[in-house]
Amino acid sequence: MREGAHPGRIAAYPAQEPSHEATQVWKTSFVTPRRRVAGKSTTREPIIQEPVSFDLEPEATRRTAGAAESSRANRGWWDRNADDYQIEHGTFLGDDRFVWGPEGLDEVEAELLGPPEELKGKDVLEIGAGAAQCARWLAAQGARPVALDLSHRQLQHALRIGGSFPLVCADAGALPFADGSFDLACSAYGALPFVADPGLVLREVRRVLRPGGRFVFSVTHPVRWAFPDEPGPEGLSVANSYFDRTPYVEQDDEGQAVYVEHHRTLGDRVRDIASAGFRLVDLVEPEWPAWNTSEWGGWSPLRGNLIPGTAIFVCERD
Ligand SMILES: C[S@@+](CC[C@H](N)C(=O)[O-])C[C@H]1O[C@@H](n2cnc3c(N)ncnc32)[C@H](O)[C@@H]1O
Repeated sequence: MREGAHPGRIAAYPAQEPSHEATQVWKTSFVTPRRRVAGKSTTREPIIQEPVSFDLEPEATRRTAGAAESSRANRGWWDRNADDYQIEHGTFLGDDRFVWGPEGLDEVEAELLGPPEELKGKDVLEIGAGAAQCARWLAAQGARPVALDLSHRQLQHALRIGGSFPLVCADAGALPFADGSFDLACSAYGALPFVADPGLVLREVRRVLRPGGRFVFSVTHPVRWAFPDEPGPEGLSVANSYFDRTPYVEQDDEGQAVYVEHHRTLGDRVRDIASAGFRLVDLVEPEWPAWNTSEWGGWSPLRGNLIPGTAIFVCERD
């Protein structure tokens, strides 16, 4: 099942090579703009190796971006920005909490993977795990998690925080596991917002799940794509077509993508899930809770009280 993966070190699998295409701006930011594309690592503790720096400010555009180009760009972006992401969001996420998104919905209360007491002994794959906070919470419930991410630097943060479960560096579109390896799979904003072919990821997840397995994943709520990605009042007016699936791309001065996000409408997501052989058993749109006064990029109490910011899909395979 966990070929090449061992606790305490990162097993790496190659991603595909890039390809190109072209078109027209915006979307979401996981790290606040002043920190984006930072040239220097500022992690709290020294860890294994520095990511390659990238000093020029990229251009934001909307244009097509294929699977290989998206994968290559996002692996580089998350390697360069993992330190800032963990500094900026690590406290909110907690080292061993399972938070589904910027609203702060916690798996302890949501129980979307089932009652916590039933997780004991379950094989669980976390996709786009980042620093593996969710996997750490799963391990604390007695589950056997495997944390997978495209970014080596994100997984180095998982190592820094610690935990005795496997870390696997691989693309969600090519899962390096045998069929039927897991009871459950989960992804909190990992991979699905970033891939050109979400159907491929869903088919891969279905393949590695055992019959009766459940996959729960969260993404930016599709309706957010119609609005500017701003936390304030300017983020409340529709400015873009909800139906425009053209990816959001940041590119360097040679037109090479350095960051990509892909948009799917709600209907697209439902069809992707059904075509991959899953049953959609719930769609959760967390409401912004009164206790949460934090902003996370374009997610804010102001907007969160008016429009959904996160969509969580609960899928099962027969
Ligand atoms: C917004 S972060 C979410 C990480 C973590 N779940 C959290 O809440 O902090 C997105 C993560 O998805 C990873 N990712 C992006 N594209 C991916 C892909 N194609 N396959 C696997 N992971 C991917 C990134 O490297 C990043 O760590």
